[in-house]
Amino acid sequence: MSKQKDFEKAAELALQEAVSWRSDGVKLPAIPTASKEDMLALFDGGLPETGNSGEAVIEQLIKAAENGLVNNTHPNFYSWVQGSSHPVGVAADILTSAWGQNAAIYQTAPAAAIAEEVAAKWLLELLGLPSSSSLAFVTGATMASFICLAAARSEALKRHGYDLEEEGMSDAPAIHVFLGAEAHATILSDLRYLGFGRNNLVFIDVDDQGRMLADDLRQQMKNFEGPKIVIAQAGHINSGAFDPFNEIVDIARSHDTWVHVDGAFGLWANVVPELSDLCAGIEKADSWTVDGHKWLQVPYDSGFAIVKHPDAHKRAMDISASYLVRDERDGRNPSQFSPELSRRSRGFVVWAVLQAMGKQGVQEMVARHCRCALHLQSRLAEVSGVRILNEVRLNQVAIAFGEGASSEECDRMTNEVIDEIRLENTNFVLGARWKEQVILRISIISLFTDLEHIDSLADSIIRAWAKVAR
Ligand SMILES: Cc1ncc(COP(=O)(O)O)c(C=O)c1O
Repeated sequence: MSKQKDFEKAAELALQEAVSWRSDGVKLPAIPTASKEDMLALFDGGLPETGNSGEAVIEQLIKAAENGLVNNTHPNFYSWVQGSSHPVGVAADILTSAWGQNAAIYQTAPAAAIAEEVAAKWLLELLGLPSSSSLAFVTGATMASFICLAAARSEALKRHGYDLEEEGMSDAPAIHVFLGAEAHATILSDLRYLGFGRNNLVFIDVDDQGRMLADDLRQQMKNFEGPKIVIAQAGHINSGAFDPFNEIVDIARSHDTWVHVDGAFGLWANVVPELSDLCAGIEKADSWTVDGHKWLQVPYDSGFAIVKHPDAHKRAMDISASYLVRDERDGRNPSQFSPELSRRSRGFVVWAVLQAMGKQGVQEMVARHCRCALHLQSRLAEVSGVRILNEVRLNQVAIAFGEGASSEECDRMTNEVIDEIRLENTNFVLGARWKEQVILRISIISLFTDLEHIDSLADSIIRAWAKVAR
């Protein structure tokens, strides 16, 4: 068989499976049926001595994976904060792979570079952030905050007369980083990657929703001399709460300090006029993290690092060498903005999803998910023994079960409710610990989730609780 024919057959089979996975979604179980052993047996038939035909490989891949896939593109998926890979984004992703462009520099991937340039412009407009900001297309929020904080570190030192790029970290003045006591775990990892230790971090008190208390920030910042960075949050992982950005930025400004906002999913609230009060003042920050693969439904992986000061951004990230040929007439050179040189052309997919949804499509979806969260809250409000722990405004609902019992007993009952819901195998849910107790975490973020899905989820939660409370 010719190489082209071999590819054609493999690609046709892959496409057929892709279309069927998406259309079968509603019928598939929410929780995969394959065990670890089943999957190991199917995936590991030994390293092949000789190659196989493309069609046979794809057939085998489907067989090995299909019963171990989590149906996170399904509207009944409520775990983590995971988008559901917009179908048009998936189609664009297939082309991205087929075109095989390496989005490092304009001259070797001009269409990829321009797609990024345009998608970046559209994203800034949609998110209501300053249009002169620079934007990097990365794997997700973890890497986006890493980039923003690298730029912040360089700038914080520069403002104190220290040239980080020239002198390196070892003799740099200590930087103190101020962050909410409930900052997302990945912020702590990013700070570690950037050479910050626990002793450089100043945790600021938070309220019962995990919001940073501005008064404590004001007080704590007075206690430290030298370069500083403040990290705020838009969208707490459990409550969906937002830090008070206006106050935080004002306090930071009085110390000439960079403010970074981790808005992995919450920043999307800024596209909806009725929710934008949550983000008041956010545009005054210096950098922002937001994911494409969460609320924008871009297929994995997709995150955006946005920096108001492109010089600081490039100082921290630029990769240049003589073979990475640049000309001033070129379009954007993506490798100036992110740590990877060779990488996937992430801009095509983002451009395609923005085209497919349009501004109104994104607004409608974000607003619908938040309405769904309120609907779930009101369905559960009638049920005795069910406690909603967060102020529901965004797409998150944090639920605990049992009233008047010991905390251990409530934790046990909440865990049992989660198990019962999972046993029904129609909704994918998981728990977490927040404020010293086990919670059922509901994150409503799948593209097609609507009130009917929430009614079915509420029914399932109520059924599960009735069994556990018996
Ligand atoms: C507030 C916040 N920051 C960061 C992250 C990490 O995002 P990613 O998994 O895209 O790196 C998340 C994930 O849910 C998040 O909610």
